[in-house]
Amino acid sequence: MHKTKRPIFLLIIFFLFILLFRSQSHAQYNTLWIPDTLSGTNFNLNIKDTFAQLVIKGNQTITGGINGKFWGPTLFIKKGDVVHMNVKNNLNDSTTLHWHGMHLPAVMDGGPHQVIPPGTLWQPYWKVTNNAATYWYHPHLHEMTMDQITKGIGGLIIVRDSIESALALPRKYGVDDIPLVLTDRDFNTSNQFVAVPYGDSMMVNGTLRPEFSIPAQVVRFRILNAAIERSYNLGFSDNRAFHIITSDGGLLNAPVSVTRYLLHAGERIEILVNCLSQSGTSLDLKAYNSTLSNFVAGGEAFVNGPFANALGKKDFNILHLKIGAITSSPITTVPAMLTINKPLNSADAVITRKLTFSDSAGVKVPVILGPNAFVINHKLFKLKVTDYNIALNNTEIWEITSNSVFGHPFHIHDVEFNILSVKGAAPAAAQSGWKDVVFIPGKTGTTPSVVRFIAKFDDYADASHPFMFHCHISLHEDEGMMGQFLVTSPSGTVNLFPKSDPQINIFPNPAKTKLFVAYDQPNSQVYYARIINALGKTVLMLPKPELEKGIDISGLASGMYTLQITQDETKIMTTKKFIKE
Ligand code: C2O
Ligand code: CU
Ligand code: CU
Repeated sequence: MHKTKRPIFLLIIFFLFILLFRSQSHAQYNTLWIPDTLSGTNFNLNIKDTFAQLVIKGNQTITGGINGKFWGPTLFIKKGDVVHMNVKNNLNDSTTLHWHGMHLPAVMDGGPHQVIPPGTLWQPYWKVTNNAATYWYHPHLHEMTMDQITKGIGGLIIVRDSIESALALPRKYGVDDIPLVLTDRDFNTSNQFVAVPYGDSMMVNGTLRPEFSIPAQVVRFRILNAAIERSYNLGFSDNRAFHIITSDGGLLNAPVSVTRYLLHAGERIEILVNCLSQSGTSLDLKAYNSTLSNFVAGGEAFVNGPFANALGKKDFNILHLKIGAITSSPITTVPAMLTINKPLNSADAVITRKLTFSDSAGVKVPVILGPNAFVINHKLFKLKVTDYNIALNNTEIWEITSNSVFGHPFHIHDVEFNILSVKGAAPAAAQSGWKDVVFIPGKTGTTPSVVRFIAKFDDYADASHPFMFHCHISLHEDEGMMGQFLVTSPSGTVNLFPKSDPQINIFPNPAKTKLFVAYDQPNSQVYYARIINALGKTVLMLPKPELEKGIDISGLASGMYTLQITQDETKIMTTKKFIKE
């Protein structure tokens, strides 16, 4: 009797120790937050200043969120639908919201020209023509993009279409179809964000040290690089192969199996990971950035200065994954084929547009930027300078020659393109589908890097509102590594209307819920409508409003307002006062 007590005592100590150890190893992870979802054709997005308990101990962090406390809802939209966005800016600053990767009219695009003042509702809409894939939305205010993205403003867009829907792919959001928004952030000692190009702390969906349970089957991850600057060389801790099924703008022809994939700022991939019969095991999604060259963002090991950070040129964990039980009706195989893409044909190109990247040595730039900023075509971006006029329906080759030692992820609005060549070679299989970001590697020795892609600029012409192209490293973009182009249609230059100012009638006046507008000239289209309150502040911005439906003014406070209407064909602006009851 006496002797048996000791082993029992030791056993108890042992179990206590195990418990303690378990709870400690548990404490190092936080459960990955999965953004809420919105679906349908009408979306209310309320951008606001808020705060969130991102760091477990201490102060909350001042953040920017859309509807919630950080980041925003994932929008599910269907190809073929017309979607309406009600974007309310409740920030204390102006902002814009850009639908990255969407093919839509420039005036709906949310670039730096579509500034939403604080308190204003912006209502763009468009017909979804993009392929099923993962896209995103984010602020694009000139010189403020890095600050506003750092606060956490943004969200994912998941497009569905009939081709993707017909495939046996994981599609249970947050269960076997998991969004991963990769960023890194710097926190100061009171847990507040510091807007810097490279953070010290990796975050996924705003969660620090995240962990997530996935089922023991084929799982899909939709991965967005939403970082300010860093590229992530993705891979799993057991070096397993994963299967890339999409590039930025749609499905690849077939899954591409890799063990590493370098994802640059702005880019998205969807991957399939086979976890069949692996219940009870765990693994990590990691960034193998120790192997990156010094000239890929995240491959530099700066110890001091503004670029110094804890993750530079290191391998680090992104997400801890625990494999749980298999779900009912699981996906258990990776499809062999996905779609048949019809890439654009070089023979159809009417022009090769040549762009250059370089550093700012010898270029007139503000002193604060010095010689090490980056420029496109030897100049900095200017809001009022149009770099290119592109005729509607042009198929064009864009050839970018980089004399920068550093690599830059280049992004263009309006179109999805096909990469033709990177330094003379055909693109890798995972990059041979539709893209809207392409990495332009730094020069090798004195040999510049040349990247060529082909795009077709169809559907939307607008002689007043441009589309942007830029480096997707927000710091570079804000510093001026950006340009813009107009897509113009020859018919758009013909003035179909007499010179006399168009007149508008508005009714009822006073109005309570809807305001109807009629031009005295039949068939006249409206380019833009704005409602301005008695203090001169824009409260409602309506690009190309569908006037037959009436303007919904039910959200306005009662008082006197001015309706300002710009005619589409002439761009003549007319104003009318009305009273909101
Ligand atoms: Cu995602 Cu012009 O940007
Ligand atoms: Cu974009
Ligand atoms: Cu850049």
